[in-house]
Amino acid sequence: MDSILVRGNGALSGAIPIAGAKNACLTLMPATLLCDEPLTLTNAPRLSDIATMTQLLQSLGAEVASLQNGLVLAMSSHDIANHIADYDIVRKMRASILVLGPMLARDGHAVVSLPGGCAIGARPVDLHLRVLEAMGAVLDLRDGYVHAKAAGGRLKGAVFEFPFVSVGATENALMAATLARGTTVLKNAAREPEIVDLARCLRKMGAEIEGEGTSTLTIQGVDRLHGATHPVVTDRIELGTYMLVPAICGGEVECIGGRLDLVGAFAEKLDAAGVSVTETDRGLKVARKNGRVTAVNVTTEPFPGFPTDLQAQMMALLCTASGVSVLEEKIFENRFMHAPELTRMGARIEVHGGHATVTGVEKLRGARVMATDLRASVSLILAGLAAEGETVVSRVYHLDRGYERVEEKLRACGAQIERIKA
Ligand code: UD1
Repeated sequence: MDSILVRGNGALSGAIPIAGAKNACLTLMPATLLCDEPLTLTNAPRLSDIATMTQLLQSLGAEVASLQNGLVLAMSSHDIANHIADYDIVRKMRASILVLGPMLARDGHAVVSLPGGCAIGARPVDLHLRVLEAMGAVLDLRDGYVHAKAAGGRLKGAVFEFPFVSVGATENALMAATLARGTTVLKNAAREPEIVDLARCLRKMGAEIEGEGTSTLTIQGVDRLHGATHPVVTDRIELGTYMLVPAICGGEVECIGGRLDLVGAFAEKLDAAGVSVTETDRGLKVARKNGRVTAVNVTTEPFPGFPTDLQAQMMALLCTASGVSVLEEKIFENRFMHAPELTRMGARIEVHGGHATVTGVEKLRGARVMATDLRASVSLILAGLAAEGETVVSRVYHLDRGYERVEEKLRACGAQIERIKA
């Protein structure tokens, strides 16, 4: 398994291009299963999770061509030749469950293995299943698989209120509703930019959707969808991660393609910690206002709140802030696995259930640490960039799921970082 070696090297400055969003792309790709005409995505990120989704779609009979060095995904799903999403692919990535809604909506049946993914809590899929049941799906959970059939051969519109916000369940239901008979109203729906992006793409494909970006989505089912071309929205988590580079190391970084509306709550916390974020013609420019950053309290929430996917990276910053910060994780029950690793680098962190209390130290020290999940791995790289000495982050396969060319992007700003091939 590869590792990443980082040497703390003082202030970092430069420009970093931000890729298309992994999480948007992972929900836009299964939308190809909804119609027999081509769906082309531009601005796709080059990541191992995208390769896994490609493999999954191909196993179902879709054609997926990666063009222009992976930036363009040309997909076509003339027929769904196989309606079984196999355990061997699904276990690698939780987002695989997103093929369930589209297959069920188009052909009235699907069999999907129960998913795996990051080890950040139980992460059940009960909401995905309940909303599809409300739309007339008959489900049978057998041998680790969901066997789903649409009663009467086609899903029907329904009014469904999510008991709590789920990004993936909203996406599955939204895709399924586009081809259901009648109107679907999804209440307490997720409002993430990735949902807005999916709704816009589906509308280009002929879907009738209102309310994206609000907590109520109304979908009028149509008989068929058609082909479309759609650019994947900017990755707000990659954006937020690179915004933290000058915050934690000093210097000034311009994130090309960055948009403030994608990271509003996060930018507000940076501002409170003493980091300025300004809009430029090309994106967002970030620098510390004065010297050391100051402690802030952070609570993760569904969009437009502070994203859970930036909590680990923000914790790395707060390890070096003056004062005591409290981070509260409200989305996942086990998402502080980076805390013991940061502690190995000299951070002072105490975790109590869903809260972590971080007492900032003047300087972190390089150490050998282990990446435990995708966002945790990049938080350790950020900490390593700000630490004295050498940090080796092992198990970086997690990183490759969500960050493309991370060493190259950081080196362009003056970072000393290299990959050690196993
Ligand atoms: C998506 C993102 C992930 C992000 C998360 C929250 C993708 C591919 N992944 O994951 O990076 O961290 O949103 O912003 O887009 N839950 C249930 N039952 C369900 C579904 C979810 O109990 O059926 C729980 C989860 O365990 C979690 C919470 O609801 O505690 C939110 O999960 P959800 O919004 O569904 O996350 P994902 O869509 O899996």
